[in-house]
Amino acid sequence: MQPSPIIKMEQVVKRFPGALAVDHVDFEVGRGEVHALLGENGAGKTTLMNVLYGIHRPDSGKIFVNGREVSIRSPKDAITLRIGMVHQNFRLVESHTVCENILLGLKNLPTILKLKTAEKEIEELSKQYDLPVDPRARIWQLSMGERQRVEILKILYRGADILILDEPTSVLTPLESKHLFDFLRKMAAEGKSVIFITHKLDEVMAVSDRATVLRAGRVVGKVATSTTSKPDLATLMVGRKVLFTYERRGEASASPVLEVRDLQVLNDKGLPALKGTSLTVHAHEILGIAGVAGNGQKELAESITGLRDVSSGQVIIEGNNVSGRNAKYMIEHGVAYVPEDRINVGAPQSLSIAENLVLRTYRYEPFSKGLLLEKREIGSNAEKLISEFNIVTSSRDAITRTLSGGNLQKLILARELSGRPKLIVALYPTRGVDVGATEYVRELLLKQREGGAGILLISEDLEEILSLSDRIAVLYEGQIMGVIPAESANMEELGLMMGGALKKAA
Ligand SMILES: Nc1ncnc2c1ncn2[C@@H]1O[C@H](COP(=O)(O)OP(=O)(O)O)[C@@H](O)[C@H]1O
Ligand SMILES: [Mg+2]
Repeated sequence: MQPSPIIKMEQVVKRFPGALAVDHVDFEVGRGEVHALLGENGAGKTTLMNVLYGIHRPDSGKIFVNGREVSIRSPKDAITLRIGMVHQNFRLVESHTVCENILLGLKNLPTILKLKTAEKEIEELSKQYDLPVDPRARIWQLSMGERQRVEILKILYRGADILILDEPTSVLTPLESKHLFDFLRKMAAEGKSVIFITHKLDEVMAVSDRATVLRAGRVVGKVATSTTSKPDLATLMVGRKVLFTYERRGEASASPVLEVRDLQVLNDKGLPALKGTSLTVHAHEILGIAGVAGNGQKELAESITGLRDVSSGQVIIEGNNVSGRNAKYMIEHGVAYVPEDRINVGAPQSLSIAENLVLRTYRYEPFSKGLLLEKREIGSNAEKLISEFNIVTSSRDAITRTLSGGNLQKLILARELSGRPKLIVALYPTRGVDVGATEYVRELLLKQREGGAGILLISEDLEEILSLSDRIAVLYEGQIMGVIPAESANMEELGLMMGGALKKAA
């Protein structure tokens, strides 16, 4: 490739208490390329880039920019070296305007006159790069996609020609992602360098020239995108072969397990989150709910599982109106829930792992006879699930609090997906789960479907939705934009609906 890379990191090490996040990493990026930094959750991608951006000091290793060794002690140093980073969680001041946010942190405080000039400059920059946003709008008025454009404009305004974007598509619709990719290609064509952090293989294939793959803090592969494939990348990323196809056996039955009728629900801020949502899930069926997170998904899941009050409308399970029932009632009536907040909702931290694993079922045989709990059954149930789900723990009697995040997720999934629920509500069940465990979770969902459960699968991963669901509903601003049979669904139509377009009449 390029004779001298614009960025070269050499044997960089970054340790945190209890984690070797970056382990002797060599990383190079050339001028004019989009370079994907690929890895599973926890692989060290963000940490490595935080080192390059001056947020973390490396424990050892060297960094070269344009062939010259540099010491980057703060983001300010990075910006001086023309490196800019857009973090996964935006860092904008909600009550300020776009322009004020872009100027924030610059040396000289803007006077009114300067503000006017800056607004013009930002407007021009936004036109030049096709990143439409009104410099006078306040951040709270903007969508996540627009906020991201503000972050990008901010680093361009500071003169960055090395752009780092940390999982930028996680807040975007497919169409917005496509625009972002066009923009990244344009940046590269102008000779800028883009480092694109992702854990999604399709994105690597769609936009990058080269990719560096991290696993557990180490570089496990450097590839040119044109000579690699999705399965190859997956194998590198996970360390073993990964299946991408799932077999769906048997037909959905005609009997509805869950009917949601005209549901109106408020969010935590007291604003309408569901605005008349209706849907049906049948036995032996997976209904996928596609949509960008924050469009009512959490409220939908919580109102079905008895965790959130319903303002009006009905939740009907096997013909019985259960609206207004609490979570205990739902559990006792065969509703399983894989929550998004696995720590606070999912598993009491002070119980042992074995106890947590029977939390749904301890009132029944074989775990309890009369008033007595059957310790032996509870223990052997735990042994079985710990090994099936590959939960890493010192013992089944260890306190749940001692589990790492990934293992806590496995515990909850094991509990919720191993019983015989009638209905499973799964809210982002594979978010933050490694690829190996993801595969296992998906297979379990299919097994439950085969066994007769109805499943409401809420996910932001369109591929997951497409490969598992029988039918797909799209949720946008608290309303269902339409329901499509999975066979006839395509990314493009789903993408439009996710952006608020109603399903075209057939
Ligand atoms: N500030 C921190 N303190 C302690 N551990 C951290 C910190 N940031 C990240 N880690 C740990 O470092 C590892 C790599 O994390 P990260 O760089 O965020 O991964 P990725 O971005 O690839 O998901 C993980 O094990 C994570 O728990
Ligand atoms: Mg990260």
